[in-house]
Amino acid sequence: MCGIIGYAGHRPAVPVVIEGLRRLEYRGYDSAGVAFARQGHLHVVRATGKLAALEEKLAHEGGVTMTTCAMGHTRWATHGAPVERNAHPHCSNDGTLAMVHNGIIENFQEIKAALIDKGYVFSSETDTEVLVNLIAEHRKTEPDLLHAFAAALREARGAYAVCLMDKENPGVLYAARMSAPLIFGIGTGENFIASDIPAFLPYTRKVLFLEDGEIVRLTASGFEVLQLADLSLATHEPQVIQWDMQAAQKSGYRHFMLKEIFEQPRVIADGLTGRVSHGDVLLRELDALPVPRRLYIVACGTSYHSGLWGRHLLEHWAKVPVQVEIASEFRYRDTLLLEKDDMVLVISQSGETADTLAALRIAREHGVHVLGLCNVVGSSIAREAQAVLYTQAGPEISVASTKAMCSQMLMLALMALYWGRRKDSMTMEDRHSVLAVLEKLPNVLAEALPEMHKRARELSRKYAQARNFFYLGRGHCYPLALEGALKLKELSYIHAEGYAAGEMKHGPIALIDPTFPTFVLALDDDLLPKVVSNLVEVQARQGRVIALVNDGVDVKADDVWNIPSLPGFLAAFAVLPAVQLFSYETADYLGKDVDQPRNLAKSVTVE
Ligand code: M6R
Repeated sequence: MCGIIGYAGHRPAVPVVIEGLRRLEYRGYDSAGVAFARQGHLHVVRATGKLAALEEKLAHEGGVTMTTCAMGHTRWATHGAPVERNAHPHCSNDGTLAMVHNGIIENFQEIKAALIDKGYVFSSETDTEVLVNLIAEHRKTEPDLLHAFAAALREARGAYAVCLMDKENPGVLYAARMSAPLIFGIGTGENFIASDIPAFLPYTRKVLFLEDGEIVRLTASGFEVLQLADLSLATHEPQVIQWDMQAAQKSGYRHFMLKEIFEQPRVIADGLTGRVSHGDVLLRELDALPVPRRLYIVACGTSYHSGLWGRHLLEHWAKVPVQVEIASEFRYRDTLLLEKDDMVLVISQSGETADTLAALRIAREHGVHVLGLCNVVGSSIAREAQAVLYTQAGPEISVASTKAMCSQMLMLALMALYWGRRKDSMTMEDRHSVLAVLEKLPNVLAEALPEMHKRARELSRKYAQARNFFYLGRGHCYPLALEGALKLKELSYIHAEGYAAGEMKHGPIALIDPTFPTFVLALDDDLLPKVVSNLVEVQARQGRVIALVNDGVDVKADDVWNIPSLPGFLAAFAVLPAVQLFSYETADYLGKDVDQPRNLAKSVTVE
C-alpha cells in the first residue's frame, strides 16, 4: 500500500525523505515521487519502478540538498495504471499546492465533474489530483490554507492519509487521516509525518498516533493537531517506541522473509514470556471480558488462515463455538445475527487492513464484545478494539506474512487454554501437557529449521517448473494447506489451491496429471488413514506427490519430507515453516522478488 513521509527540519530534506521511503518499501509500490519548494517554485520529481529510478532523476535536479522541508510517496496503484503521470505528488492546476495520498476518495468522480465544469484540467486518472484541486478551489474563498484544506476534506468521502505542501509557505506541511495510517514523529528542531514508524525511526522514537478525522500542521519547530470537524485542538499523549531499526534489518539473511521464518522459535519464546506461569495461562487483557457464548473470528489472507486453525483449538479445548469469516464478506453480510454474549475477534498483523477494520467497526455498532489480535502496536485495530492482545512478533517487513501467523497461532492456542480454564472445559493435566510442549517448541523448531531449509531447497529445484499445485490437508491441517497454497502463489506466481483432502474427489481430482503435483500434509493423527486414501487417489491418476510426514507415518510418495513430531494440534507449528520454506525456496530459485512480490502490498489499507 502507498507510503508517505513528510519532513520539516534542519537537515537536507530530500535525502531524509528518500531514506524514509526506502524503509516503507515493504508496503509494496510501483512508482515513487518527492516534492520540495525551491526559489519560489514547487518541484515535483516522479518515476515509475523502484526508488533507484527516482534517485536517478533527482541526481539531475539542482539544489536538492538545499531544501529542509519535503515530502515523498511510494504509490501502489489503485486509480489509474502505474505510470508516471499517476505517480504522486500531484499538483493543483495553479501550481501552488502539491499533495501525496494513501487511500481512496470514493466520491472523486463527482468532485472531478464539478471541478471540470469550473475549468480545471486533469493530467492523471487519480483521485489525489482531484482532491488537491478541490483544496485550491476552496482557497479562492478561504485564503487560510488550513481552513481550505479542512473544507475540502469535509467534502471527501472514503479513506485517506494525505500530506500537503504549499509553495507560499515552503517550511510548512499539512497532513490528515481518515481510515488510513498516519503517524507523527516529534524530533528536536525537526518533525515528521509518515505512514509507518520505521520511516523516521533513525531520528526520533517519540510519536503521536493520529486519529481518524484529525489534521496536523507542522514545521521544523512546532506542530498542532486539530479536529477536522471544527479545527479545535486535539489532545494527544506522545508515546515512546521501544523497538529499533536493528530489529527491522536482515541480520545477514538473504531476504527478510527468510529471516522472519527463522525468527519463529524466538517469536514463540517471546509470546510465552509473561503469559505462562506455574502451569497456567495469564491473559490479563481478557480478564475483564466474559468468555464468549459464540466467537466470530474475522480476518483476511494469512490472518484468516490462523483463525481457521484456531477454531479447532477453541472449540476442542474451550468448547466455544467459533465461526470464521473473511472480513470483506463479513462487512457486507445482509444479515448479521450477532447477539449480546457473542464476541468478535479480529486478527490482523498490520492492524490497518481496511476490511478487517471495517468489520471491527460493524461489530462494535452491534454492541458485542470486540477483541483485536494484532502485531503492530498502536495500529488502528489495536486502538479501536475493546481489548487487544499483541502478538509481539516484532516488525514483519517481508510482504508475505510468516512469523506473524506463527505468533497468531500461539496466541489462539493460549486463548483456547485460558478460556478452557475459565469454563472448566479442559482438565488441568491436559492443559499442563499442552503447555509443556509449547515451552519446548522454541528449541525443537530452532534445531529443526536448518534441516527443513535444506530439504525445502532440494524439493524446490525438483518442482519449480510446475505450473499448478494442490495442497491437501484435513482437520486442523486444512488451514495450513490453504496457507501453503497462498504462500506458493503469492511468492512464486505458480497457481496453487489448498483443499480439504476429502473434497478432491468432488471435482478437483479431474485436474490431476503428471504435470500437476500435490503437496499432502500427512501427519500422524486420527485422520491419517483418510489422508493416505486421498494421497493414493492422486497417485492413481499419475499425480506426483510430496508428502509432509512425521515419525510413525509410512507412506509411499515421490518425495517424503520428515518434520519433527509434535502432539495433536501443536504439530501445526512444524508444518508452517515447512510450507513457508518450500515457497520461499521455489520463488528464490525462479528469481522472483521474494520480499516484495508483484501486485502485493504489506498493509492493505484500501478495500
Ligand atoms: O495485516 P493483516 O494480517 O490484516 O493482513 C492480511 C492479509 O493482507 C495478509 O495476510 C496477506 O494475505 C499476506 N500477503 C499473506 O502473506
